[in-house]
Amino acid sequence: MQVSLTPSKSQTRQVQIHLAERSYAIVIGCDLLDDPATFEGLPRASQALIVSNGTVAPLYAERLQAALKPHYPKIHLSILPDGEAYKTWESLNLIFDALLAKGCDRKTVVFALGGGVVGDMAGFAAASYMRGVPFVQVPTTLLAQVDSSVGGKTAINHPLGKNMIGAFYQPLRVVCDLDTLRTLPKRELSAGLAEVIKYGPIADTAFLTWIEMHLDDLMGCDKDALAYAVKRSCEIKAQVVGQDEREAGLRAILNFGHTFGHAIEAGLGYGKWLHGEAVGCGMVMAATLSQYLGLVEPGWVQQFRGVIEKAGLPVVGPTLDAQDNAARYLELMRVDKKAEAGEIKFVLIDGPGQAVVRGAPDELVRRVVDDCCH
Ligand code: NAD
Ligand code: GLY
Repeated sequence: MQVSLTPSKSQTRQVQIHLAERSYAIVIGCDLLDDPATFEGLPRASQALIVSNGTVAPLYAERLQAALKPHYPKIHLSILPDGEAYKTWESLNLIFDALLAKGCDRKTVVFALGGGVVGDMAGFAAASYMRGVPFVQVPTTLLAQVDSSVGGKTAINHPLGKNMIGAFYQPLRVVCDLDTLRTLPKRELSAGLAEVIKYGPIADTAFLTWIEMHLDDLMGCDKDALAYAVKRSCEIKAQVVGQDEREAGLRAILNFGHTFGHAIEAGLGYGKWLHGEAVGCGMVMAATLSQYLGLVEPGWVQQFRGVIEKAGLPVVGPTLDAQDNAARYLELMRVDKKAEAGEIKFVLIDGPGQAVVRGAPDELVRRVVDDCCH
């Protein structure tokens, strides 16, 4: 679907996700949130629900509400507690409570305004409320703009595993307003960079080189640099998701660093490390495992580690168990969604720009944990 844009929005870029009748546009640019034109062409309804959290809503909800006003007679707000620790059934229920209390029907459009936590929960709520209502992503973190808002994965956490309860449910549009990134704390910006960097080693070495050269611009919130990083990341993700929407195979490469990363998040307790920080460190660990398996040169891993470090991300993993740290990592990684019959599947780098999904001997994984953690 082409979104109509005013001439002043000439810098706005679009990336298309091609999924037959579930195809949609990712709109990337500035001043999008305030503009009713951004939301033209979405399904008509008497009501809309904006799902956000206590941090993002005071910054942007009123502006989004004003931009939606010409399209929806009644606009409600559901404000969730902020944080990964609240990506739970209880928070999900708050969205259902709001939808039901306001008498929202099955045409009601749900707008997710926030980072990946809000997006994943609002998406899951939209997927299940009355068996599915229309849903739009308005991501406000770098991580959400380059990854979580795109591709239709929605979920909540379970104490025993990250993102274990959820659904594939595509949004109708993704609106990435780069201006919202200006209020993002630096630590969150770095966390988002982890998911940007991820696309280099798995799919596009030229992009990794570009990131390396522009890290200062990206960390300084330079609009042009961010616009390119978001667009290129979304293009790569769109290509992968377009070929394998429900992760029958290829899509798993987007989880580079996530097997170790999810173990770090679950092992420390959700929210202690940011998701992007855990993924950044997890990518160093997965790259090291790739090296130990003879798939990439030590020099490449060293350089890659340097990029992660320069992006302000941790490169040394935490100790999750003082007695046997490697055993604890292995135990947590067996709960990963990619695991098959208890065998952990890792996304590994099979030469720069090329990813492969495969198992690895426990002794090598132990060596990685021992070498990469405190
Ligand atoms: P987040 O949603 O917790 O947001 C990070 C913090 O920034 C929060 O405190 C939030 O309130 C705040 N914030 C958001 N936008 C802001 C803004 N513009 N200005 C100031 N503060 C702002 O974290 P995240 O990194 O966006 O997302 C992480 C989540 O995304 C994890 O739960 C992860 O599992 C999920 N994820 C999902 C997918 C997917 O495909 N669905 C992919 C990657 C990650
Ligand atoms: N973030 C991984 C995926 O969307 O598949």
